[in-house]
Amino acid sequence: KVTSVRAWECLDSRGHPTIGCEVALEPGASATALVPTGASTGQYEVADLRDGGDRYAGLGVRSAVAMIEREIAGRIVGWPADEVDELLDGPSNVTLGVSTAVAKAAAAAAGVPLWAHLAGDGPVSLPCPMVNIFSGGRHAEGGGTIQDYLAVPTGATSFAEAMEHVWRVRRRAAELVAAEHGTLWSRLVADEGGLALPGGDDERPLAMLAQAIAETGLPVGIAIDVAATQVPDPDALVDTLARWCATYPIVSVEDPLGDSDWDGWTKVTARLSPRQVIGDDLFATDADRVRTGAQHGAANAVLVKPNQVGTLSGAHQALTAARAVDYRTVVSARSGDTEDDAIADLAVGWNAGQIKVGSVHRSERLAKYNRLLRLEALDGIRYAVWPG
Ligand code: PGA
Ligand code: ZN
Repeated sequence: KVTSVRAWECLDSRGHPTIGCEVALEPGASATALVPTGASTGQYEVADLRDGGDRYAGLGVRSAVAMIEREIAGRIVGWPADEVDELLDGPSNVTLGVSTAVAKAAAAAAGVPLWAHLAGDGPVSLPCPMVNIFSGGRHAEGGGTIQDYLAVPTGATSFAEAMEHVWRVRRRAAELVAAEHGTLWSRLVADEGGLALPGGDDERPLAMLAQAIAETGLPVGIAIDVAATQVPDPDALVDTLARWCATYPIVSVEDPLGDSDWDGWTKVTARLSPRQVIGDDLFATDADRVRTGAQHGAANAVLVKPNQVGTLSGAHQALTAARAVDYRTVVSARSGDTEDDAIADLAVGWNAGQIKVGSVHRSERLAKYNRLLRLEALDGIRYAVWPG
């Protein structure tokens, strides 16, 4: 049973205010969780509550803290941990910290790791990582249009080997950036720890990533997240994307179109298949939107971001809906994230198959990778290789 709920204002990897939450259960287990925040948010995701006004440029979350400690605490104290998510509703930063802290505390009370608590008797695996190398869009303001160019370790047979492959690609890509634009550009990092290029050309990062991969000689593919909800005219990009797919070793494309164009999505999915086509803002981690998308043949994979829906149970329902229609699942962090590593356990315990948490730089990213490396090294959890 929940005995206390506390919250405080802390800071995320962009230095923006976010929610920290601590939940205590009877008998004697407690846990904390920190909440991430996206920069490229879609219209269908549950919004955060921000204070406005002068503090922290209006981004403060004291009103969310107050809502957690008064309304939410009043509603859930006395209830069993596994019934809490059903009692939660409100802004995403008000509910997600509570939902995550309750799950962690319940795992602690049961004396098992979070992944094992979430898995129950179900199968578990270490996810194949999709790792940011170059950023643009909202994650590197002033750069190009495309948000995310990622390395996918398609030939690795363990999580540790997957990390080493993408690490070598990132290092080579940084050398190419240094040679072309100087060391400073190769050392600066975007929101998810990736590189960025001056000039705003959308194909240049892709070409450089392809070159880095070719020069390492490693079995690594390319994934692109267009984050088209942030692009003024995404339709104009589709032909370009199709051309890139014919030129570069692209294995996955995310959000090539905006989040309201089901018919456009049907066409673009047919055009880009059999590559992986991921819906992020399109589905907004909502089980109903996943089912609607499947009826349209829109996308063939679902990005699962718990803060888009506000609770772990809601995220798990979206994941289950995806699996029911044979869509792949990718558990994802946000561009504004924290040292909280719970998302790694979600990917493992829900047997998601893939994870997307940013580059192999910056500790809010490494927290997740380091957790997965530990689960492989010490707990011997099986690695889910790239599904091909
Ligand atoms: P966000 O970016 O967290 O800024 O939304 C991640 C993504 O679009 O996949
Ligand atoms: Zn995305």
